Amino acid sequence: MSVNQVQPKLIIHGGAGSSLKGKGGADAVRQSLYKIIEEVYSLLLAGANARDAVVRGCQLLEDEPRFNAGTGSVLQSDGQIRMSAALMDGKSQRFSGVINVSRVQNPINLAKTLQESADRVLSDYGSAELLRELNAPVYNPLTDLRLQEWIQERQDNFSKTMAGVVAEKDVTIVSEPGRGTIGVVALDSQGCLAVGTSTGGKGFERIGRVSDSAMPAGNYATSKAAVSCTGIGEDIIDECLAARIVVRVSDGLSLSESMQRSLQEAKDNQRDLGAIAIDAMGAIAWGKTCEVLLAAYHTGEQVGDTLDWSEEALTGSAS
Ligand code: GLY
Repeated sequence: MSVNQVQPKLIIHGGAGSSLKGKGGADAVRQSLYKIIEEVYSLLLAGANARDAVVRGCQLLEDEPRFNAGTGSVLQSDGQIRMSAALMDGKSQRFSGVINVSRVQNPINLAKTLQESADRVLSDYGSAELLRELNAPVYNPLTDLRLQEWIQERQDNFSKTMAGVVAEKDVTIVSEPGRGTIGVVALDSQGCLAVGTSTGGKGFERIGRVSDSAMPAGNYATSKAAVSCTGIGEDIIDECLAARIVVRVSDGLSLSESMQRSLQEAKDNQRDLGAIAIDAMGAIAWGKTCEVLLAAYHTGEQVGDTLDWSEEALTGSAS
């Protein structure tokens, strides 16, 4: 690393939930997260910019069927998969995203394409048109586990309001309805930040429901800080959580103080959510109001995760 370069930093998440149950539950999730952290961190070390590293991280998380984004996305109430994703580049402070897109492997790729477009957030019909223009191959992200989950819920007359956050037969089951999303935040060697977030939504929701993941409430970055959220979209939107944390950093609070204050407010308001963040100085922070946050990070010196983190803890940090 030359004198003008900074140590890259990386944090990723695969959702949040009420508990990781079953034999080997945490280990299975940890393995997936660490594999992705290592691959994306090596790109940052090789000089990739934050935006490209974030897109690659999101692709890898979307391709991991265990997480609720891309392959393995939950089904909506009518049995269809509709996904949302967003990308924000902190340097250009530019947001792009797609809402409720279907039949594509990596929704984050559409968000990436839209970074250069005059119209940067497209909903279902517009996203389908974009896919057609790009000649993107038709892809079905449905997995057997997610289908079984939906069939079971249909038999139970959709008594749950959401699907499980992690799909893993007999091994990794979150005991209550989930808050599945994936997210990546990176600081590159030039000191630039970026964030990406992607989701299949809550699962079993009504048609047309819009997720926080493709809004600045759930995915936001400036040159000072970048944040990706997970949890119940409506709660994240009500707190405008990602933008709230970033604005606090811009106003002079440290990242960990911004996370702490914002998560305390969310907890006081009985919200159900989690967030991961990095600032321009290389501080890494995370927070949750639910019991488990499925996150892993790379500081340049060590890899760590939040899987065994206390159920009561509100925020944590590394640097
Ligand atoms: N946070 C993902 C969703 O609620 O759609």
